[in-house]
Amino acid sequence: MTSLAPVLAPSVEPLRLGGVVVDPPVLQAPMAGYTNYAYRQVVREFGGAGLLATEMIAARSAAWLETERGEHPDRLWGVRDEPRPLAVQMWDNDPDNLARVGRRLARDFQVSVVDLNFGCPVRQVTDKAHSGSWLLRDPARVAAIVRRVVEACGDTPVTAKIRLGCAETCQTGVEVAQRVEEAGAACLTVHGRVASQYFKGRADWEAIGQIKRSVSQMPVVGNGDITSAETAVARLRETGVDGVMIAREALAKPWIFSQVAAILRGEAAPPDPSLDEQRELVLHHYDLVCRRFGIERGTMLMRKFACAYAQGIAGARAFRSAVSRTLSREEFLAVVADRFPRDPR
Ligand SMILES: Cc1cc2nc3c(=O)[nH]c(=O)nc-3n(C[C@H](O)[C@H](O)[C@H](O)COP(=O)(O)O)c2cc1C
Repeated sequence: MTSLAPVLAPSVEPLRLGGVVVDPPVLQAPMAGYTNYAYRQVVREFGGAGLLATEMIAARSAAWLETERGEHPDRLWGVRDEPRPLAVQMWDNDPDNLARVGRRLARDFQVSVVDLNFGCPVRQVTDKAHSGSWLLRDPARVAAIVRRVVEACGDTPVTAKIRLGCAETCQTGVEVAQRVEEAGAACLTVHGRVASQYFKGRADWEAIGQIKRSVSQMPVVGNGDITSAETAVARLRETGVDGVMIAREALAKPWIFSQVAAILRGEAAPPDPSLDEQRELVLHHYDLVCRRFGIERGTMLMRKFACAYAQGIAGARAFRSAVSRTLSREEFLAVVADRFPRDPR
């Protein structure tokens, strides 16, 4: 008997973060303001992401830890009860604060992975709080933070996310990676830009590959400008990274992970949902958001997700402008029904 050869021979190993198996090694990126429980639930329903991540939480203003449930009102929405594996990301520059919150996340919330943000380029976090990507100028401090948090989190793997450096003139990625490995991190994710670029220019996958080659055991996940399932697979195969992480494209296409996973299994990628199915998805996502935040806040919050879903679709501009003005459930439903692009019949 002959068996049909798969479309592409599967050659990609799962990613192992301590005892946590990330299979496939395709990760949903943390995105502040976006990757809340409702969004993660949508990603989870399509399947294919090996690890999901929350938005980043600030360890320094963790007064919520002292409340009865010890739960951040918004940013830990769902975390206690939702399926694993799940990573929670936090930021600060104080090893003790981060260790305190990390221990709590590991012990009380039983999260799968505690992730440390050393990549955020936003001034509120860098210039004002000397955290996020600001810390890339101080590899010793990054290492001290990782070491403290690793000690505090016990068996729960601790990972870090960086950019290539703070600026073109401060490309510390290799040194940071080596120190992060020595300090006991289970994995490092690298966004292939320096912080001063924000999102300008192209992600430098050559530099990501160089960081991968500079460490000995620690897995490295590459991130930046993955705009299709095929690109994700090509990056995985060609750059030597142990996993890939997708952010912005997965806001427009939360089903992209299922497409990557299919290709990695040697199958054809499932097609994008039809526009009618995408319209249903917007309404499903809206319901998840409103269940938590109520109609008024839910409608405001959902506008940006609806805009993201319409990205790249003909008629998106008119839809965006209309949906961005909706205030009530009726208005939101009407705009989605009337203006979200329809499949041509
Ligand atoms: C709206 C938005 C919010 C983000 N928030 C975070 C965050 O909270 N933590 C983090 O590590 N990265 C954050 N990022 C960066 C992404 O995780 C990712 O590194 C970056 O967008 C590059 O990947 P992409 O080209 O696939 O979008 C954010 C990006 C965007 C667009």
